[in-house]
Amino acid sequence: MIKKCVFPAAGYGTRFLPATKAMPKEMLPILDKPLIQYGVEEAMAAGMTDIGIITGRSKRAVEDHFDISYELEHQISGTPKEAYLAGIRQIIDKCTFSYTRQIEMRGLGHAILTAQTLVGNEPFGVILADDLCINDSGEGIMQQMVRVYEKYRCSVVAIEEVAADEVHKYGVIDASPLDDNVFKVNGMVEKPSQEEAPSNLAIIGRYILTPEIFDIIRRTPAGKGGELQITDALQTQARENMVLAYRFQGQRFDCGSMPGFVQATNHFYNRLENKDD
Ligand code: UTP
Repeated sequence: MIKKCVFPAAGYGTRFLPATKAMPKEMLPILDKPLIQYGVEEAMAAGMTDIGIITGRSKRAVEDHFDISYELEHQISGTPKEAYLAGIRQIIDKCTFSYTRQIEMRGLGHAILTAQTLVGNEPFGVILADDLCINDSGEGIMQQMVRVYEKYRCSVVAIEEVAADEVHKYGVIDASPLDDNVFKVNGMVEKPSQEEAPSNLAIIGRYILTPEIFDIIRRTPAGKGGELQITDALQTQARENMVLAYRFQGQRFDCGSMPGFVQATNHFYNRLENKDD
């Protein structure tokens, strides 16, 4: 059973400056909940309660969020406002949180390598909380991926079909169908041009990784943008062993971009309004 889930949250989040100057973009709220809380709830639904968060300088807000705020709780104790904190209290009670700092922002692969001390030698989930994933009609995305992992016991990446003019924003896979919505990865290209892209199947911010990935990242040279790309490491793992891609059921909002963030906000607000009808 996979118990650990890593949340890289050390990036600069430049697309949301100045909002992200002193806090990670993972703390930006969709309605009344920060992005990272949606991610932790998804991890919990998949049975992952050991949460490892990779943070950076001036980003203590995440630690404070997943901790008790005695003064605040004392203030609202016994009032109807207490109910607002019920959800986060439940998360704090059920999960343990560990933090490590990424000293230099050398890319997602490097952030994941930083998590090795938290993860140890077991398979683990990775959630990029700025990709907000929901499945209104069933199991969460990480839970779906755990099922795939349990069947095949290898690294699994979540994929989504994207428009041809969007492939340059993603890691894109070259893959062969294996099972229902499951593909065997033959190769991957990070942020390809439309001409270079081997397919329109793009990797989104959900992974289950086996611990061999750490050594592979260590021997992976810096890739696109001078950063250590997890895509390059997974490409090696696909060649040396096996990596699967899973086309998830549900919906993803790219909350690292302004349009995706607004779409997510509208979606959750409409849901709230309809619930009240
Ligand atoms: P992104 O490239 O989307 O995030 O990284 P960013 O660099 O923070 O955002 P922009 O492009 O400047 O607006 C994907 C995820 O990987 C984390 C980020 O926090 C984000 O969750 N990340 C990225 C790290 O933790 N460390 C890094 O060195 C790079």
